[in-house]
Amino acid sequence: MFAGAVSVLESTAPADKLKRTEEIVRLWHAGEMARGKAVRPPARPARPARPILLPPREMPRRRATGGQKTLALLHSVAHIELNAIDLAWDLIARFGTSLPDAALDEWIVVAAEEALHFDLLSVRMAELGGAYGDLPAHDGLWQAAIATSGNLLARLAVVPLVLEARGLDVTPGMIETFDRHGDCATVAVLERIYRDEIGHVATGMRWFQWACEQANQPAEPTWCSLVERYFSGGLKPPFNFQARDAAAFPRSFYTSLAGQADLSRGKEL
Ligand SMILES: [Fe+2]
Ligand SMILES: [Fe+2]
Repeated sequence: MFAGAVSVLESTAPADKLKRTEEIVRLWHAGEMARGKAVRPPARPARPARPILLPPREMPRRRATGGQKTLALLHSVAHIELNAIDLAWDLIARFGTSLPDAALDEWIVVAAEEALHFDLLSVRMAELGGAYGDLPAHDGLWQAAIATSGNLLARLAVVPLVLEARGLDVTPGMIETFDRHGDCATVAVLERIYRDEIGHVATGMRWFQWACEQANQPAEPTWCSLVERYFSGGLKPPFNFQARDAAAFPRSFYTSLAGQADLSRGKEL
């Protein structure tokens, strides 16, 4: 299974990443795939020739309107989801030997759901006449993976519990916008993603707490100091307390780091 994880990371075409992900998930859940030996994942996952990857500050500003604007937004979310597929497999390949089977079961579900998200977004883009690769994409998304490649606690503190939790804060606003414009198909895709991502944050929290127990460290101060050390962006309120609570992510963890600004988003789904 760890070798399978590396094979996803080394697949260049998104379609191959999806296919390999589906195969591994099926075999693992059928009990037909062993954990296997420790592996060495690549520092960066393979990427297709398109989209062109640009440093965040060189990303073009979105001036498009209507369908083009929708496509640009779907494209940027698809890019995040493609990275999320690789992030799930990178965690399994890099840290899986120190995790119990129960953790691998959950992270494989995360990988499968990220693949589904990418697929749903690709289908919606195709309906609107677009495809992943049509627009430039942000090159900064793998930075957090590189920064935390040697430390499971740091990886869990930053990837699910900062970045994916941030997704919970911003997705309801996107859903509201598409809902206002009557774009029900895009709303359905984003609502599916939103629901699954609550589960990904919950998985992150569960295994972060487990890893803290293993290391005999208190979870909350450990999370705060890892975020300060490994995540330079700072936490950005307002937070979606409702979704974060649903993921069993205690408010005290992140509110103390964010200062006393306007902490909660006014409208919640
Ligand atoms: Fe996702
Ligand atoms: Fe996710």
